Amino acid sequence: MTTPHTAGTPGDHRLVIAIDGPSGSGKSSTSRLVATRLGLAHLDTGSMYRAAACQVAHRGIDPRTDPQAAVDLVATADLRLDTRPGHDHVVIDGRDVTEEIREPATSAKVSAVATIQPVRDLLTAMMRRIVEDSGRRIVVEGRDITTVVCPDADVRVLLVADPAVRMARRSAELGGGVDQAQMRDQIVRRDRDDSTVSQFASPAPGVTLIDSTRLSLEQVVERVIGLADAVLSRR
Ligand code: DC
Repeated sequence: MTTPHTAGTPGDHRLVIAIDGPSGSGKSSTSRLVATRLGLAHLDTGSMYRAAACQVAHRGIDPRTDPQAAVDLVATADLRLDTRPGHDHVVIDGRDVTEEIREPATSAKVSAVATIQPVRDLLTAMMRRIVEDSGRRIVVEGRDITTVVCPDADVRVLLVADPAVRMARRSAELGGGVDQAQMRDQIVRRDRDDSTVSQFASPAPGVTLIDSTRLSLEQVVERVIGLADAVLSRR
């Protein structure tokens, strides 16, 4: 029989890294790379809200006029995510939505589902289960991970960047073909809507702010890994 390690004891390999930030701040690329390099699982919580929004639309539910129907759907949904970094598979109620969740049409409708508080409570409980199932060796990214989902994470980061830089990054990610008005909607309008339910404009106490406006992805990754190393070396 093995004795479970407790936090702070030598040999404690648990490492929960929480990264919050608005869209286009670079948190997905950063989280994936940090998880890969440190051998941790990776949970993109935005993809959970995106999958829920896809399934709500698929069932013909309008979350603005019938939020309860959206809550009921999420309460009974079978949501499966692959938490191996780089394996971003998402399946909801047997439907593979891996591609659909990244479409601009999904980005446009996700806030309407993500701002329903009972939906957040259900998904938050699921996120916490995934963190425990990983053996608390995971990078979790989102909007409220440092504050609500995992306020006890070992490393807590808020990643921000100027809106112009975030819009340019999102355009590059989507490979062009998205007009400026659509891009503004995806970045500026969504931040405004999302910030009505979670506060990710400034860091909560104990959260490290990283402004990636003038940093390369590699520099951001190094800073996060530096924070993780500092935690591990204090044990
Ligand atoms: O990070 P993203 O663009 O994939 O997030 C999709 C949506 O989900 C976004 O509108 C904000 C919302 N979200 C949230 O409210 N809380 C989280 N922890 C993660 C995402």
